[in-house]
Amino acid sequence: MINYKDLGLVNTREMFKKAVDGGYSIPAFNFNNMEQLQAIVMAAAETKSPVILQVSKGARQYANQTLLRYMAEGAVEYAKELGWENPQIVLHLDHGDSFETCKSCIDMGFSSVMIDGSHLPYDENVALTKKVVEYAHQFDVTVEGELGVLAGVEDEVSAEESHYTKPEEVVDFVTKTGCDSLAISIGTSHGAFKFTPEQCTLDPQTGRLVPPPLAFDVLKAIEEQLPGFPIVLHGSSSVPQDEVDTINKYGGALKAAVGIPEEQLREASKSAVCKINIDSDSRLAMTAAVREVFAQKPAEFDPRKYLGPARDNMKKLYIHKIVNVLGSNNKA
Ligand code: G3H
Ligand code: 13P
Ligand code: ZN
Repeated sequence: MINYKDLGLVNTREMFKKAVDGGYSIPAFNFNNMEQLQAIVMAAAETKSPVILQVSKGARQYANQTLLRYMAEGAVEYAKELGWENPQIVLHLDHGDSFETCKSCIDMGFSSVMIDGSHLPYDENVALTKKVVEYAHQFDVTVEGELGVLAGVEDEVSAEESHYTKPEEVVDFVTKTGCDSLAISIGTSHGAFKFTPEQCTLDPQTGRLVPPPLAFDVLKAIEEQLPGFPIVLHGSSSVPQDEVDTINKYGGALKAAVGIPEEQLREASKSAVCKINIDSDSRLAMTAAVREVFAQKPAEFDPRKYLGPARDNMKKLYIHKIVNVLGSNNKA
C-alpha cells in the first residue's frame, strides 16, 4: 500500500472547494505518454495552475498502470525543478469501471478515482459508488461518481445516445454514496465528433458547423439541488478547427469534427462546475504537429524531431485552456 501523500500528490477536496468558491475550473488532462505528461506539467508549472492527471482504462492498457503511476510521481519532482515550489497535482483514475480497478489504483498511490456506474441501473450505481467511497475515504482518496449518460465515440467510453442527468436524483445519489464530486450529462460527449452535422447549424460567414448549446438549464437545476457541490464535465474538448485543418491539410481525414465551444466551457467554469475533462484536443494538437513535420520533412526519422513539436503544440493548447477557458492560472 502506497499513500499518495508520500508521493507529493494531493486529493481534489481543497482544490474543488477553492474552484467552486472562486468561479473557475481545474483542468483534468488525460495522459498516455511522456510527451503529454511533460507538456501538462510544463503548462501547469508555468501558469501556476492546479492540475489533474487522468489515467483512463485505455491508458492503463497502452502504457501500464504502474509505469503511469511512477511517471506521475516523477511529474511532481519535475514540477519542482521547473520552479513550482508547491505543486498541486492530482493523480486520478478516469472512468474506473469496477471496485477492483479503483482499489488497485488507490493501493498504488492514486489520490483520486472515478467510479463510473452511469450505465448501471440507479440502485446498482449507488451501491457500487458507495463501496468505492467507503474504501477510498479510509486513505483520504477522493471519489468522483457519475449520473446521466454521455453519448460518444471514444474507444473505451461509448453510448449511443445521451441521457441528461436528472436533477431530482442528485441529492439522493450524493447523500447515499458520500462521493466527493459528481460528473453530469448536459450535452457534452467524448471524442472529436460530438455532434452530427444534422444536429448543428452552419455559420454562413465561416462555413463552420455550430453545435447546439449545452443544457445550462439542467446544470442550474442541479446546482439548486446541491449548492456548492463540485460538479464535473466530461467530454469537454472544443476540437480546435485550426488543428483539424492542419491535420486535413497534411493528409488527415477528419471530416466534420466538432466540439464544445469554449465560451460555453468558460461560462460553465464560473458555476459549480469545477473539473473539466479534456483529452481529444490534446490528441488533435499532437497529431497536427506530427503530420506537419512528416509532410514538410519527409526525410526526418528521429522521433524527437516530431514528438518535440508535438509536445510544444500540446503545451500551447494546455496553457490556452488554463488561462483562457478554465481560469485556473495563479491558483496554486
Ligand atoms: O473519457 C475518455 C478518455 O478520452 C479516455 O479515452 O480510454 O481511449 O484513453 P481512452
Ligand atoms: P474529450 O473526448 O472531449 O476530450 O473528453 C475527455 C474525457 O471526458 C475524459 O474522461
Ligand atoms: Zn470522460
